[in-house]
Amino acid sequence: MDLVIRNASLADGRHGIDIAIEGERIAAVGPQLPQRGLREIDAGGDLVSPPFVDAHFHMDATLSYGLPRVNESGTLLEGIALWGELKPQLAQEALIERAMEYCDWAVARGLLAIRTHVDICDDRLLAVEALLEVKRRVASYIDLQLVAFPQDGLLRSPGAFENLKRAIAMGVDVVGGIPHFERTMAQGAESVRLLCEFAAGKGLMVDMHCDETDDPLSRHIETLAYETQRLGMQGRVTGSHLTSMHSMDNYYVSKLIPLIAESGVAAIANPLINITLQGRHDTYPKRRGMTRVPELLAAGVPVAFGHDCVMDPWYGLGSGDMLEVAHMGLHVAQMTGQAAMRQCFLAVTETPARILGLQGYGIVPGASADLVLLDAGGPVEAIRLRAARRLVLRRGKVLSEAPPARASLNLPGRPQSVDFRLTRKE
Ligand code: FE2
Repeated sequence: MDLVIRNASLADGRHGIDIAIEGERIAAVGPQLPQRGLREIDAGGDLVSPPFVDAHFHMDATLSYGLPRVNESGTLLEGIALWGELKPQLAQEALIERAMEYCDWAVARGLLAIRTHVDICDDRLLAVEALLEVKRRVASYIDLQLVAFPQDGLLRSPGAFENLKRAIAMGVDVVGGIPHFERTMAQGAESVRLLCEFAAGKGLMVDMHCDETDDPLSRHIETLAYETQRLGMQGRVTGSHLTSMHSMDNYYVSKLIPLIAESGVAAIANPLINITLQGRHDTYPKRRGMTRVPELLAAGVPVAFGHDCVMDPWYGLGSGDMLEVAHMGLHVAQMTGQAAMRQCFLAVTETPARILGLQGYGIVPGASADLVLLDAGGPVEAIRLRAARRLVLRRGKVLSEAPPARASLNLPGRPQSVDFRLTRKE
């Protein structure tokens, strides 16, 4: 074997597991494997996970914070206005450079697959060209999936549908939308129908920004689920955000969630962004705004957590750390039960991998040797500590290494250092 990792814990709760890697693939997984490696790594009981996956991001805007000015109010609408100011000034090389820098951060965080929306409302499609170039450049270390996103509205923005079709023809993977931003509810529903029909005709996946509002009557997810079923697109459609569900009437939701489950539509919440951008018109009590994650999960709907934004017109924070995303999601959804905390880890690993349709993902024989060794004993501890990525491997090759978090102490009669670990096992 080229590499054997010894004594790892896995996110499913197994401990003392060895992982043998031959070339670019995982050859064997199990306790005390007899295979010997040219190189051997002792995980020391720490968690080995498949890479983090971000199912919802905006790479065309990332790291543009402060350009051309900062978002003074911190609201979604000022963010959209600010992006509109920045767009005409975007230079392709600068955009590529910012995206490449973010991809460096992502690798160091063990984030090796990203679905990014790309704004297609600029007739030059400059961001599309730039992100297709980034996709080519990072292909050996990050799976980048692009979504054609009509940020200013498919029907509201002249030429948007034509631009979207051009973007798909250029190689963008997924059809996006933003029905709640169209002029009327009826036009929102119409945009969902048009986009789903277009995607069905091309055999493409769909991922729409859907109902990113606190308006409980924003019900485009209902139309999205209906169109998915009508067009036989089960398993290929995702509703992103779905924040209006937070504010909907419980009786209506009791009908809606089974319809979403039945249609095979997946959901993506963006906890860091939802908790900061929603509820802005409220005084007190203030709504959290994030969609109903535990209830969707209980109904069998796949739910992933996305980062959405890092240092852009909408959000001035973040660093590509999907454990920070899971940490916020866990808190906002009050998912503090043991099983629920583990689901939050899956929401930034296995679940988005399924939503993106990634091949060869997971720690099983035959899968790609893409792994992250974390400075934590299990998934809950990883979330609690936003654990350091001791090693990040892609196709069997080490891409990034980081020291575990330790602090030295100078206290009378106390240990000389702390590692913030209560126990090494979960
Ligand atoms: Fe988004």
